[in-house]
Amino acid sequence: MQYNSSHFLCETIVPKNEIIVSRTDLKGIITYVNDTFAQISGYEADELIGEHHNIVRHPDMPKTVFKELWESLQKNTKWSGYIKNLRKDQGFYWVYAEISGVHKENKLVEYKSLRTPITFEKKLEYQIKYDKLRLKTNDYVRKVIYEKIN
Ligand SMILES: Cc1cc2nc3c(=O)[nH]c(=O)nc-3n(C[C@H](O)[C@H](O)[C@H](O)COP(=O)(O)O)c2cc1C
Repeated sequence: MQYNSSHFLCETIVPKNEIIVSRTDLKGIITYVNDTFAQISGYEADELIGEHHNIVRHPDMPKTVFKELWESLQKNTKWSGYIKNLRKDQGFYWVYAEISGVHKENKLVEYKSLRTPITFEKKLEYQIKYDKLRLKTNDYVRKVIYEKIN
């Protein structure tokens, strides 16, 4: 894992070959995480299971993204998009997340999510996009500096 730190932020770079997996019940309570999820988020798996998935919600994320996520899950049982997540130590990590419903005997029983790393350029694009969305709803926007590591 690589870290990119400055005065007030510390980024964890998700390694290229890793997939961060979690499963939740229909309310978003975490029922399973893989080792990579625990390692990247800085929690022990035990600390995550039983918690709502918003335990990794980052304050830079706009509310509208999650509103759309849940609306989309309710309508089509799937959503995909870019998320900046919060680590236990208050650092962050960016991912591309694909969330979908799991059906048993035609009944929706849970959600699963697979997350993969994104490029430096996508992080910048989405940081700017999400800052604009937050400004629209009068939410505060922090100054974030990104530094490219090779
Ligand atoms: C399977 C699944 C995975 C999710 N993954 C994330 C995630 O990685 N990060 C995140 O902030 N929210 C994730 N969410 C959305 C959260 O449930 C929640 O809506 C979001 O963190 C915003 O929190 P709030 O609704 O309390 O404002 C996920 C939801 C589901 C169902």
